[in-house]
Amino acid sequence: MSKPSRPPRSRFTRRSTAAQVTAGIDLRGKTIMITGCNSGLGFESMRVLALRGATIIGAARSEEKARDAAAKTDGTVIPVACELSDLDSVAGCAEEVSGLGRPIDVLMCNAGIMALPELQQKYGLELQFLTNHLGHFVLVNRLLERVKAAPSGRVVVVSSLGHYSTVAGGINFDNLSGARRYVPFTFYGQSKLANLLMSNELSRRLEGSNATSNAIHPGIIMTPLMRNIGDVRATLASLFSWPVSRSVEQGAATQCYVATSPGLDCVSGHYFADCNPARMSAHGQSRELASRLWSVSEELAAGYL
Ligand SMILES: NC(=O)c1ccc[n+]([C@@H]2O[C@H](COP(=O)([O-])OP(=O)(O)OC[C@H]3O[C@@H](n4cnc5c(N)ncnc54)[C@H](OP(=O)(O)O)[C@@H]3O)[C@@H](O)[C@H]2O)c1
Repeated sequence: MSKPSRPPRSRFTRRSTAAQVTAGIDLRGKTIMITGCNSGLGFESMRVLALRGATIIGAARSEEKARDAAAKTDGTVIPVACELSDLDSVAGCAEEVSGLGRPIDVLMCNAGIMALPELQQKYGLELQFLTNHLGHFVLVNRLLERVKAAPSGRVVVVSSLGHYSTVAGGINFDNLSGARRYVPFTFYGQSKLANLLMSNELSRRLEGSNATSNAIHPGIIMTPLMRNIGDVRATLASLFSWPVSRSVEQGAATQCYVATSPGLDCVSGHYFADCNPARMSAHGQSRELASRLWSVSEELAAGYL
């Protein structure tokens, strides 16, 4: 498949909703897996994409949470448990999903946590890096053959504008545990940069196949993600001039657009915001950093890939 170097601009904006950007798109016969399907942008994406006819594989930390979310959704949802900070759970989920024997048309890596106030670690890794990046890295790698089995499979990685606010050097490979120094929001930024770099490296590895990978920033939306930031509006506005100004329905638009727009069939390795191509940070554009992160992630996840 030949890939256009620049993705097309769309007529959608920051005000468009997930329902609007998918209007008229028939997803019957498609299978879409979404992590973090029980809350916020993941739930809204599941709701809208199921309405358009897709079969959703809805992943949440526990089967109970996934089942509860499925029960609130009109359409076909297969609930699965996927605790991203537990690599045995991720591997088990991937096995269960592979066992369904379906091609995966879209794998939407949406779940995430933000700005944990105190350092938390597992497997010797800081928890945001583990949950937001490494858990998804294992899931994507284990399901890649299923994505490639679809006519034009898409990996959609929910990154963030927060990828700009990362540690010195982008990814601090010498402090992935956070033990030397831990700054809550900066470590969130590192994990979101890792999401973007994973998508970019994956797109290079998918060259020559029919599958693609792109990353997105959804906007700033009041969801439970913000639970660790006291006065969210004031904090984000004063630190980054980031306005909290869109609804969950609008927040889910960019990931649903990149997941389903027919015009993006061959588009890969890009970053979107407001349903349009957006500029990555310098670290986000670094091939060297992406390649190194991929190798280090393979080492960290050895035995789970
Ligand atoms: N909201 C924003 O302004 C904003 C801005 C930029 C980027 N994003 C990104 O958008 C994505 C969705 O966030 P949201 O705003 O919709 O937040 P949210 O409502 O808190 O949803 C996050 C989802 O991730 C799940 N999750 C958290 N830790 C997990 C784990 N260890 N294993 C499996 N699932 C886990 C949550 O499950 P539980 O409900 O069980 O905790 C929840 O379903 C995240 O990747 C976030 O970084 C959001």
